[in-house]
Amino acid sequence: MSVLHRKDILRTDLLSDEELELILSTAARFEGELQAGGRLHNMAGQILATLFFEPSTRTRLSFETAMQRLGGGVITVADSKTSSAAKGESLADSARTVAGYADVIVIRHPRQGSAQEVADAVDVPVINAGDGAGQHPTQALLDVYTIQKETGAREGLTVTLAGDLKYGRTVHSLSHLLARFGCRLFFVAPAGLEMPARITADLRKVGAEIGETTDLVAAVGESDVVYMTRIQRERFEDPAEYERLRGSYVIDSALLQQAKPGITIMHPLPRVGEIALEVDAYEGAAYFRQVANGVPIRMALLALVAGRE
Ligand code: NCD
Repeated sequence: MSVLHRKDILRTDLLSDEELELILSTAARFEGELQAGGRLHNMAGQILATLFFEPSTRTRLSFETAMQRLGGGVITVADSKTSSAAKGESLADSARTVAGYADVIVIRHPRQGSAQEVADAVDVPVINAGDGAGQHPTQALLDVYTIQKETGAREGLTVTLAGDLKYGRTVHSLSHLLARFGCRLFFVAPAGLEMPARITADLRKVGAEIGETTDLVAAVGESDVVYMTRIQRERFEDPAEYERLRGSYVIDSALLQQAKPGITIMHPLPRVGEIALEVDAYEGAAYFRQVANGVPIRMALLALVAGRE
């Protein structure tokens, strides 16, 4: 059994180097097996529960695809209004109930720390699919998998993370992994949406070189990868503040003319205007390939925590 057997996947800063390498190499193996047309049965007889208390398209469907590609079954709560949460049941009680049915739980919830609460309440492995403005570790894993595939490298790259760095959980998780690979990071955010100081301090502690700026053009001019994010409207108390900040940064062809040649453009999606449609034709536009990489990464995570890799 691997080091990840029966483990929870809650935050990227809690993954060891060994665990990280194991996830990436297992994903590459599964991807190869899928491409060769293989039918996999690693998770036969196992049930995955996906509990989504916030909207999702890619994360939930790719977890469910991953489980089915491995021959396992899926039960889901995709709309909390139809579950007992609507009757006032606590998250811990809902989780204990689901742990009686399923072998692995994947949870997305608006409260930061919610995945940890679920993990504390149950014995089955719990995977965090986004806890409010906290973390989104499985997205970050598919992001580094994508960076490796797209650039052929990962150590020593220069990467710009742009947009809503305050509330964006994907960049919180991703920055920890990039720092570990010795990447140079540029953080580009409008005033008020900067990367939380606590995270920047943690990254600097592990030796990350970080440039914080509001100048997207200057940052992409030096970057191998730009990772764009959406302003997280659902986290704003004041809708006027969201309206003021949306559209702060947009990647379009004019901007790309000033970017480093061959730059890779990524986004966790959904985009709501941060990447102009004209950019889709650019060969470095990797965001839809990035989405597809979610399946092998999530296959690897499910199989590893279940001891079925
Ligand atoms: C992200 C999320 O939910 O944090 N979406 C995703 O899982 N691909 C990014 C976002 O919603 O902006």
